[in-house]
Amino acid sequence: MSHSDIQDKNPGFITMEKTLQQQIQELKKKRHAVILAHNYQNPEIQDVADFVGDSLDLSLKATKTDAKTIVFCGVDFMAEAAKILNPEKTVILPDKTANCPMAEMVDAESLSWLIKEHPDAEVVAYINTTADVKTLADICCTSANGVRIVKSRTAKKIIFIPDRNLGLYIQKQVPEKEMILWPGVCRTHHDIKKEDIVVLKKKHPHAEILVHPECQPEIIEFADYVFSTNGMVNHAKTSPIKEFIIGTEKGLCYRLEKENPGKKFYPVPTAICPNMKKTTLEKVLKSMETLEPKINLSDEIMQKARVPLQRMMEIE
Ligand code: 13P
Ligand code: SF4
Repeated sequence: MSHSDIQDKNPGFITMEKTLQQQIQELKKKRHAVILAHNYQNPEIQDVADFVGDSLDLSLKATKTDAKTIVFCGVDFMAEAAKILNPEKTVILPDKTANCPMAEMVDAESLSWLIKEHPDAEVVAYINTTADVKTLADICCTSANGVRIVKSRTAKKIIFIPDRNLGLYIQKQVPEKEMILWPGVCRTHHDIKKEDIVVLKKKHPHAEILVHPECQPEIIEFADYVFSTNGMVNHAKTSPIKEFIIGTEKGLCYRLEKENPGKKFYPVPTAICPNMKKTTLEKVLKSMETLEPKINLSDEIMQKARVPLQRMMEIE
């Protein structure tokens, strides 16, 4: 007789079966593991995580933990960055197919050609890049520190990869630099139309518009503020405003609502990153049981890719 049969026949029967969440918490202790989750992850993943944050925050958390194993609930470049910064730790990505299509839009060979054409330029790589590509960068940045990082460079010319929208946003804030922009985009953000935001604003005229810098320039111009995902969380917490239109992947609204009970958040309904949604509790549990799929990178790649990541951390 199965467990659910027993329960059906004896409604008063107290089940001893452990929930997925309980099993994950127990294994976490056994494995000396920490669970890091990006702000776009499904609610149940955010709830089971030790830390939820944006790319920068999670990279910093990864360097500060003394856990032996990092279970990274996000996409591949984030887990790779955690591994590069902690080569001695086991880093697991519960679904190995969870990638960032924008990171795949630039490859090391094509970037090498561009570098040869502009020998006087420095390469600033958005953290949304593969480890291979990072080996060619002078410094990394995230959406939280991109402006600060580009300003910090001594070269006048900057090759910025791969997100053109983020590059255009930074160029506007740092006009003294000459930025050569790679033609990559994040479809989740690039496909948000101004009309989507206008419709929400008509419905909620008192709401403030917060958007991610991966959105198109006309949306950035129309917004009240441009923030990384953690930037939106911090702003919503400290602002006296009670309603916000959120121009980024809609999963962020779960954290925003959880941490701001009296406030309202209106997402763009179509803004979904399918790769961020691949992580499930079942996959997290299985990956902790098997310690697979692991992030494996060669020592040579890790050594070279660590340089631009660490330079970014030093500026924080
Ligand atoms: P954040 O670092 O702002 O969370 O952005 C990560 C990302 O992938 C945006 O699409
Ligand atoms: Fe990549 Fe866009 Fe998904 Fe972020 S939302 S992980 S940039 S595809």
